[in-house]
Amino acid sequence: MDHFIKNIASLLEEKINLPEDEIERLIEIPPDFRMGDYAFPCYTLSKILKKSPVIIAAELSNTLPVIRPIAEIKAVGPYINFFVDKVTLSELALRAISKERDGYGCEVLGKGKTVVVDFSSPNIAKHLAVHHLRSALIGNALCNIYKTLGYTCVGINHLGDWGTQFGQLIVAYKKWGSENAHTSYTVTDLNNLYVRFHQETEKNPGLEDEARAWFKKLESGDSGAKELWQHFKDISLKEFQKIYDMLGIHFDAFIGESFYNTMVEDTITRIKDKGLAKVSEQALIVDLESYNMPPCLLRKKDDTTLYATRDIAAAEYRKKTYDFDRMIYVVGSEQKLHFHQFFKVLELMGYDWANRCVHVDFGLMKFKDGKMSTRKGKVVLLENLLIEAVERIRKIIEDKNPSLENKEAVARDVGIGAVIFADLCTKRNKDVVFDWDEVLNFEGETGPYVQYTHARLCSILRKYGKSVTTDIQFALLKEDETFILIKNLWQFPSVILKAAEFYEPSLICNYLIDVCGSLNRFYNAHRVLSDDAELTKARILLVDATRQVIKNGLHVLGMQAPERM
Ligand code: ARG
Repeated sequence: MDHFIKNIASLLEEKINLPEDEIERLIEIPPDFRMGDYAFPCYTLSKILKKSPVIIAAELSNTLPVIRPIAEIKAVGPYINFFVDKVTLSELALRAISKERDGYGCEVLGKGKTVVVDFSSPNIAKHLAVHHLRSALIGNALCNIYKTLGYTCVGINHLGDWGTQFGQLIVAYKKWGSENAHTSYTVTDLNNLYVRFHQETEKNPGLEDEARAWFKKLESGDSGAKELWQHFKDISLKEFQKIYDMLGIHFDAFIGESFYNTMVEDTITRIKDKGLAKVSEQALIVDLESYNMPPCLLRKKDDTTLYATRDIAAAEYRKKTYDFDRMIYVVGSEQKLHFHQFFKVLELMGYDWANRCVHVDFGLMKFKDGKMSTRKGKVVLLENLLIEAVERIRKIIEDKNPSLENKEAVARDVGIGAVIFADLCTKRNKDVVFDWDEVLNFEGETGPYVQYTHARLCSILRKYGKSVTTDIQFALLKEDETFILIKNLWQFPSVILKAAEFYEPSLICNYLIDVCGSLNRFYNAHRVLSDDAELTKARILLVDATRQVIKNGLHVLGMQAPERM
């Protein structure tokens, strides 16, 4: 928690009838630094005291003692604004960053608690397409955010590796699979088999029954069916892993839907025992009409189980295995109803942890450039998108800085980083509109811009050549542009907390853009390396702290921070 917020809250707590933690939550950062460093809005008090917030702010501000680290207290409209002692803040911030380094921003808040994050979770035997990107990136960033806050985070890839579609694939494979399919098949071949299956069923609807029969065989453990299914899964996982490696994403476990096949019967029994299950049109369902939702389907009339059944079993298993404090599902908004339904079933089953399951949903990914539009029916493969991003950055490097060392690695870090940042900087529930020119613009609000700012700071430090020290005169860092930047850096831990609270990595992207903006204003107004040794030392400390914070922020987002670009 921000040292100054704590301080202000305890000053206020003496005078008003609100708990300290609520006061802390209400304290804001004014948008304009001239208004103050922190502000307390009096609207909540106004409701309690039935008095105008403007009057409360004026009266209260006069009774508060101005003691260090507070330098000034001023009422402005319905707000009480606080100015803190600049030297104290600068010293606290820069010493903390310099001491904690890669750990700056980390907290112990989550110590001893576990968060399970279910993310990416694609369906096997299909390519990863761009619409799979968001879950993977948001989920990965959330894992990093929770780890930063001291939680144990278990990232799970809940592969879609079970369901009637695998019966279809087996039928197609047996009928039309090529002879060397066992050794040379790729996801593309599996995809083609699907397409063929659906084309052929139009002429021959009987194929659907064959497929259902094969899936039933698979569910009952038939070895032939299982072997083929495992083969499809291996092919898919190999391709997925290649892309996860490109993105730098790691999972603690790949536990697909199939894993719960042996557990669903017990789950269904528990649901039945609670009197929740009923038969409707030969299927087994949980009626959710009184909660204004369609029924949750547990078992189809052919006895096979469903996506929701497996999700309920998975939630029970995860609670038992990880004893999570919270479980987060990073899945697109189109599955909102599914999550509402099965969370409700968990609640009705009597699990008090049902309300600790969260569906973190998100909008779509669209292309501004019509050529790659998915609406035209063409699926944009994720691998191609990533390859193209790296390729485009490689060209820019060849153009602007052909003698750069490690060109290949930098092109990869910046190309992939550009895609990650473009995706994450859009508010989660909004659609991402992907436009190559914007995404790769080194001067826009982009990944390359943030990474480039970081590399520039590294270059200043190289030029300085000496070691950075905190043995400086903090009072030298007092100009507006300088102090605003320091205040930005001081905010980093609070931003991480907020990103966790709202499951919103975009807050970190916006924050990094702000830091880069403040840095540029500082840099344009003041010379870092000058003849004044004391001033140089102080500004170098700030440059190094800014470099560190940008690096930490990029890492939380799942991006690299190259030192030369
Ligand atoms: N495989 C699903 C899909 O591609 C997403 C699974 C999300 N996770 C879950 N536990 N339901 O749509």
